[in-house]
Amino acid sequence: MTNNKKQLLALPTDLNPQYLPQHVAVIMDGNGRWANSRGLPRIAGHRQGAKTLKELLRCCKDWGIKALTAYAFSTENWRRPTEEVDFLMLLFERLLRQELAQMHREGVRISFIGNLSALPDSLQVQMQRSMLETLNNQAIHFTVAVNYGSRDEIIKVCRQLAKLVQQGELSPEQVNESIVEKHLYTADIPEPDLLIRTSGEMRLSNFLLWQMAYTEMYFTDIFWPDFDRAAFYQALLSYQGRDRRFGQVKPSLSA
Ligand code: IPE
Ligand code: IPE
Ligand code: MG
Repeated sequence: MTNNKKQLLALPTDLNPQYLPQHVAVIMDGNGRWANSRGLPRIAGHRQGAKTLKELLRCCKDWGIKALTAYAFSTENWRRPTEEVDFLMLLFERLLRQELAQMHREGVRISFIGNLSALPDSLQVQMQRSMLETLNNQAIHFTVAVNYGSRDEIIKVCRQLAKLVQQGELSPEQVNESIVEKHLYTADIPEPDLLIRTSGEMRLSNFLLWQMAYTEMYFTDIFWPDFDRAAFYQALLSYQGRDRRFGQVKPSLSA
């Protein structure tokens, strides 16, 4: 089939709706390079990148994907120039103000993961409000990672579990995968089935290290602002060609 925009409004017919990833995670990378390649300031790339994310969320909803998680700001991104960090914080807040009502109408449940307490107060207020307001929405679970770092998250879990042991509420022997998972930011979100990273970088940059133990990875050279439905379709085609074995031997090979 051809990939014109109209046809991609619905799930392309050569994708199997029974074998879609339930949860897609994205590392939205390449905003700065997208802008530079057009002679624009980096922030123009972030602005365009936000539009891309909005469109991908709608696409996931249209195509029947139940969860989308996007990496928007890492614990390491504070090392960027102050003007860029400040711009991103303002952008997050403005987007949330502008988009919340419509997302709510469309049945989007929005969550934020990361160390939110280090973010500007006014942004935290918007985040808490939007999480509360959309808590019971069912169409799609949209999670945005802001000031998120996997190592930071795992340390947080260790501290919480250590405290429970210290208080006598948990024994060291009781610590298992399921208890660790209950203390992660992602406690109520299934593990991602598919991770997409744009811009040609092939690393995780401290994103969901525990949660992605068995996630399928897809890397593309496309810069994030250019990642459209056609590009997402390619990622899903690649995903549907994978054989997820989870450490087992395929039944046909075990005989
Ligand atoms: C990703 O794009 C967005 C954030 C990390 C906030 P970049 O800003 O990392 O863009 P490049 O990698 O410099 O091109
Ligand atoms: C990862 O992108 C973080 C986000 C997309 C928010 P970076 O651009 O910060 O990652 P590195 O520095 O290239 O690893
Ligand atoms: Mg980058």
